[in-house]
Amino acid sequence: MSSMTLSSQSPPNLHFPVMLNEVLSSLCPHDEGVYVDGTFGVGGYSRAILQQASCTVYGIDRDPQAVKLGQALEQKDSHFKMIHGRFSQMKELLEARGVKMVDGIALDLGVSSPQLDQKERGFSFRFDGPLDMRMGQEGPTAADVVNQYSEAQLSDIIFNYGEERYARRIARAIVKTRAEEMINTTLRLADIVRSVVPKSRDGIDPATRTFQGLRIYINRELEELSEGLEAAEALLAPGGRLVVVSFHSLEDRMVKDFFRKKSQAPKHVSRHLPMLPTFSHSTLKVLTAKPLQATAEEVSTNPRSRSAKLRVAEKLENASQEQGELPI
Ligand SMILES: C[S@@+](CC[C@H](N)C(=O)[O-])C[C@H]1O[C@@H](n2cnc3c(N)ncnc32)[C@H](O)[C@@H]1O
Repeated sequence: MSSMTLSSQSPPNLHFPVMLNEVLSSLCPHDEGVYVDGTFGVGGYSRAILQQASCTVYGIDRDPQAVKLGQALEQKDSHFKMIHGRFSQMKELLEARGVKMVDGIALDLGVSSPQLDQKERGFSFRFDGPLDMRMGQEGPTAADVVNQYSEAQLSDIIFNYGEERYARRIARAIVKTRAEEMINTTLRLADIVRSVVPKSRDGIDPATRTFQGLRIYINRELEELSEGLEAAEALLAPGGRLVVVSFHSLEDRMVKDFFRKKSQAPKHVSRHLPMLPTFSHSTLKVLTAKPLQATAEEVSTNPRSRSAKLRVAEKLENASQEQGELPI
């Protein structure tokens, strides 16, 4: 199929799929192939894959609103199937539909533009909305965490997931405020953070890292990524590719470490011991020694792409041997 331009892929006023051209050229969709778009969102990647080849695409999203968009696409294109669920479960979700292996998987981590732009979802401090932040609309909300967790727990969440060095101060300010009144809105929380965190020279809002930390915690994003990478590796057919686009250092480090671990040759622990064929061996080949980043042109039209890092790995042909540990 002919190549296409970025802008032709995005539904108007909704969302520009980040690094779409790089995702497509890494995934290399081919006719008769089966692909998983593990973070459907508004379907920018799914649509582009379907246009590139006569293939089947399974879209997965945990957000019921994204699933509705996917169901609309399903009505229009019989090569597309929408699944409501988490990408950590992709192997079971696909197996339940009779699919044991796929030719490529794309993950575009984080929140979608519609999630960020709807104030009632509570992800953004640009608008005043309820402190929600749940992608899947189940489990505790950000308001539950902010109003009920101990100061130490809040500090850990903001420090570990938001990489915020003023986490202790912020947690103390939250606990002090909530002794007087519940903290229920995005703007209230942002004001509390801004009152104790100095402004940075780069102009980034002081509330950014706290919101990121809470969002990652609420949605178990790092656990999802860790389990999702394992599931993707297990689901890929030999030669199939896994493409991951991440937006902050915690995620990128996890992807990099996972790819490194899975692409390492087995350690030959002793030259006196033979290497047996069923011992642990590499299953992936890393295709991006360094992560790809968005072009200056894309960053100028879509600022969200500025921090994107794209990594690609390919399942090895002989990766289906049983893996085991060295018996020592
Ligand atoms: C950045 S957006 C993806 C945008 C998409 N590439 C597009 O072009 O429209 C991320 C989407 O992934 C979903 N998501 C995030 N984590 C998920 C998970 N663990 N399982 C399933 N969906 C997830 C979010 O609900 C959101 O809709």
